[in-house]
Amino acid sequence: MTISDTSDAPGIDVASTNSPAFHIGPYAVRPLRPAMPVLALAPMAGVGNWVFRLICAQLGARLVGVEFINCRLVHQTGQRMARLLDFSDADVYRRTGISLLAAQIYGNDISMMAAGAAELERRGAQVVDINFGCSVPQIIAKGSCAAYLRDLPRFYEAVRATVEAVSVPVMVKTRIGWDEDSINIVEVVERAQDAGAAAIAIHGRTVMQKYDGLADWDWIRRACDNADVPVFGNGDVRTYEDALAMSERTGCDGVMIGRAAMANPWIFSGRLGASLTERIELAIEQVGWMAQYKGERVGVQETRKHLVLYFRDLERGSAERQRLLTTATLGELLEFLEQWRDSLQQDEERDLGLTVAEATRLAWGGTG
Ligand SMILES: Cc1cc2nc3c(=O)[nH]c(=O)nc-3n(C[C@H](O)[C@H](O)[C@H](O)COP(=O)(O)O)c2cc1C
Repeated sequence: MTISDTSDAPGIDVASTNSPAFHIGPYAVRPLRPAMPVLALAPMAGVGNWVFRLICAQLGARLVGVEFINCRLVHQTGQRMARLLDFSDADVYRRTGISLLAAQIYGNDISMMAAGAAELERRGAQVVDINFGCSVPQIIAKGSCAAYLRDLPRFYEAVRATVEAVSVPVMVKTRIGWDEDSINIVEVVERAQDAGAAAIAIHGRTVMQKYDGLADWDWIRRACDNADVPVFGNGDVRTYEDALAMSERTGCDGVMIGRAAMANPWIFSGRLGASLTERIELAIEQVGWMAQYKGERVGVQETRKHLVLYFRDLERGSAERQRLLTTATLGELLEFLEQWRDSLQQDEERDLGLTVAEATRLAWGGTG
């Protein structure tokens, strides 16, 4: 079932701030609170659905990424594509100003990509993002995504054609270069902004690195020093402290967070984690919305990866963990979560930051 009415969507009550803004095209983007960096949810395939975007926006993500969409499939009908292209959460962001929806396109045919971008705009995207970072070999072999980093005239042409095809701002998401010996992010930024990009997100790894090693924040800093448009730094932000450190060390305008947000969406509120009660309450809300959105079976199944992360401090053999992992029906899962919440006498703040091993495990497939 596709939900198009977002009027009773999960909470949208986010305090505004008068802190200085930067602009993405016509939009002024401000941090959630003074002295916080602007935080954004990175686009993540299989994660950045309507429900999770709203949750992150509600918790303070000022821009939310949609999972990437192939320009050849964008005009297809069918339930899967209809869900991917359901940007009705953007209605909430328009109404409240709490966030911006950035829908991401990719492809190897520039005119099809531009046409696909126009379709994303028609569907309600507030920003169109182009994926120039995905390092999956089969995708690069077809000349899509990170393949453009080896041919900057083609990269420029793709950005320019997309900018011309839409009236919303276009941003690009990329990596620092193809490999260690060909890091070209400073030139990539220059070309992107010359072609009309309104913002740039940089994952501080090379394409060849996939998710290995560390994101190189020094290259993000160099890119920021040379950029005339806002830059989102991305890569290896596991806690809110890391976000502050990235912002300080690179001078980036915003910090984009991927894997850590899956375990700890409270990171967008500047928090290390949340109390057990809060986590259970979010789980109840999320699984309920996901079941409405994707149907009971898929909704429960897809929420489970978040639940495992939200409650990863549970002991392996504990009864709660067992129930979380095995309960198949929505009714039973909700009943268990509600009973668990009610049984808690008191709770405490806990750190939900990801460990390095968990972050690495989550980076399956090298999708970005
Ligand atoms: C499960 C998963 C799916 C991803 N899907 C996309 C995607 O669709 N588009 C994209 O540009 N990047 C994608 N990425 C890459 C992230 O946006 C991000 O650049 C990367 O995870 C590094 O940031 P992090 O260290 O905060 O996770 C994906 C990453 C993960 C872990």
